[in-house]
Amino acid sequence: MTPTTAPHAAAAPAPSGPSATARAYLLGGAGEQRTLQANVTAWRAFTWWPRVLATPPHVTATVELLGRRWPAPWLAAPMAHLLLAHPQAELGLALACAAQGAGVVLSTQATVPLERVARAVLPEPARGPLWFQLYPYGEPTAWLHVVDRAAQAGYEAIVLTVDAPVQWASPQARAAGFALPADWPQPNLPASAPHGTLDALLRCALRWDDVAWLRQRCPLPLVLKGILHPADARHACDAGLCDAIIVSNHGGRVLDGLPATALALPGIVQSVGERVPVLVDGGLRSAADVAVALALGARAVLVGRPLIEALASAGPAGVAALWRQWHDELRGTMALLGCAEPAALHPNLLRSPAPTDPSKAATSQPERSPTPCT
Ligand SMILES: Cc1cc2nc3c(=O)[nH]c(=O)nc-3n(C[C@H](O)[C@H](O)[C@H](O)COP(=O)(O)O)c2cc1C
Repeated sequence: MTPTTAPHAAAAPAPSGPSATARAYLLGGAGEQRTLQANVTAWRAFTWWPRVLATPPHVTATVELLGRRWPAPWLAAPMAHLLLAHPQAELGLALACAAQGAGVVLSTQATVPLERVARAVLPEPARGPLWFQLYPYGEPTAWLHVVDRAAQAGYEAIVLTVDAPVQWASPQARAAGFALPADWPQPNLPASAPHGTLDALLRCALRWDDVAWLRQRCPLPLVLKGILHPADARHACDAGLCDAIIVSNHGGRVLDGLPATALALPGIVQSVGERVPVLVDGGLRSAADVAVALALGARAVLVGRPLIEALASAGPAGVAALWRQWHDELRGTMALLGCAEPAALHPNLLRSPAPTDPSKAATSQPERSPTPCT
C-alpha cells in the first residue's frame, strides 16, 4: 500500500466509478491472491448446528468494546486512499457508518484530515466507535504527534498495524500501472511512507520495543492489528502491550500464503482468554460470515472490500444500505440460532470444516419456559 508517485497517476473516480486501474489497487491482493481467496472461503466452510425451540424473546446486536456499549459488532476497516473509490472518500464512508451504528477505523493513509472525520462522526447519536489506525512512519516523535492529534480530535483508540513492515503494490495494481499523483492528499501521515530498496524498508520496520515505547506514551487504548500467531497474541497480553487484538492478514494484501483469519482466530482467542477482546477481519462478505466470526470468539469484526464496493457503486447511501441489510440479517441469524446477543454465539453452534461428531457437541442450552407468540 506504499504509494508510488508518478505523473501518469490514477485520478480520483469519474462519475461512472473508479477506473480499472484504481479497482486493481483497491480490490487486489498480494501474490497469487491465495490468502485473499482463502479468507472468503474459510468462513463459509463452517455450518451451523443449532438447537430448536430456543428462540429468544428479544435479539440485540449490541456489543461492549473498550468499556462502552455500541450498536453493532462491526467497524469499517482502515483503508487507504478511498478518494480513488468515491469523491466523498473517507468522510462519506465514515458518516454512513456512523449513521448506521457501525464503527470507523480511519487509516493513516486516508485522504481526509482526521479532524474533519471526527467532527462529522462524533455528534452522531447512534454512532459506533471511532478509532485511528497508525502506520508509524518517520521518527517516533512524529508518531506521537499524530497520536496526539487523534486524541485531541476525539478518537477513542489507536490501532497500530503490525503486519506490514514491507509493502509493495499488488501484481494486479502493478500490471494495471497504478500510481498515485504526486499531489495526492495524505493529511494524516506522520512522515512520508518508507520507500526504496528492501534494505531501506527493513531499517524502518516496527519491532516489539517500538510497541512498548508507544504503549507507554499513548494517551488512548492501543489495539494491535495484524496478529495471526497465538504466541504473538500471548506475548502482547503478557507484556501488557495492548487493550485489544485484531486478528488480520491485511485482507491478503501483504504476504500471500498466510492462513485464512477464520482458521487463525480460535487459537488466538484461546491464548488470550479474557484478558483483552479479540477482533477479526478478512473475507467477511455477509452478516452470516460475521455470525461465524462471533461464534468463534471474536468480540467484533472489521470489514474492508465490501464497503469499498458499496461506496464505489452507490456512494455513502450504498454503505448505509449494506449496514442496514447486515444488521437485519445478523439479528435474524441470531434468532434462528437461539442467541439473544452476540456474546451468546458460541463455537458449540458450529460444525467445523473438519467434520466432527455432532453427538459430542455441548448440549447446554439454558432452560426457559415456553414463550407464547403474540
Ligand atoms: C484498499 C485497501 C486499503 C487498505 N489500507 C489499509 C491501511 O491503510 N491500513 C491498514 O492497517 N490496513 C489497510 N487495509 C487492510 C484492511 O484494514 C483490512 O485488514 C482488510 O481489508 C480486511 O479484509 P477484507 O477487505 O477482505 O474485508 C487496506 C485494505 C484495502 C482493501
